[in-house]
Amino acid sequence: MNTDNRPIGVLDSGLGGISVLRELVKLMPGEDFLYYGDSANAPYGTRTPEEVIDLTKKDVDFLLERGAKAIVVACNTATSVAIRELREEYEKKDIPVIGIEPALKPAVLAKEHSKVVVMATPMTLSQTKFNSMLHVYEDEANIIKMPCPGLVEYIEGGMLEGPVLDEYLEKQFEPYEKSEIDAVVLGCTHYPLVKNEIQKHLPGVAIYDGGFGTAKQTRKRLTECGLLSGKESGGEVKIFNSKNTEDVLELSRRLLNL
Ligand code: SIN
Repeated sequence: MNTDNRPIGVLDSGLGGISVLRELVKLMPGEDFLYYGDSANAPYGTRTPEEVIDLTKKDVDFLLERGAKAIVVACNTATSVAIRELREEYEKKDIPVIGIEPALKPAVLAKEHSKVVVMATPMTLSQTKFNSMLHVYEDEANIIKMPCPGLVEYIEGGMLEGPVLDEYLEKQFEPYEKSEIDAVVLGCTHYPLVKNEIQKHLPGVAIYDGGFGTAKQTRKRLTECGLLSGKESGGEVKIFNSKNTEDVLELSRRLLNL
């Protein structure tokens, strides 16, 4: 069996991809990981598609320069907008590129005719990638798009709980009859970092995110390409951030260990 000890590169517009990194580390504890958060340019969801593609390519290059053997795009906005361009450019250089999708399928299949709310950035919800997926499931469930402008900014600022976040979430859910919601899909990798706060507004409601599915898909791709390290434990994680301040690096490490 081929083995490859190079690290797996994981990128996000900022801190959100750490929710995916956690799942990757849990599933593949013998792998080394490099994480790059582009907090200096977050959020990506308010930028033009051209800017998102450009920034994401820079993130990939940062990770490749440090020896990454594969790239996990742990950002829903970047995946929705840039995954095709990234695959075109890097897969021909034998670098597998794995993206993330909102976990709509398990949420819809959990219950017949359910009401499913998808929380994501306005950019993700407007992209063809998401809307094609929505089209597949729209006869099976009542799927409601909930754009959450500003939520990424709160999380990037380290606001993971408290009255301001609470009020924001209250306002977001105000137009809906909460008791009729069967499931919530977190379609932005930042949102699992405040999952407990979202759950407080919807006690008992199932909340889905794409982190575990992405980790499983990453392991599958690396297995197919003969790129796993073959180690069962002892992997290391290195965190980089374009802001490069001790505050942001410390917050990143705290989020990883939560
Ligand atoms: C953003 O940077 O706008 C959000 C990241 C995401 O969609 O996961």
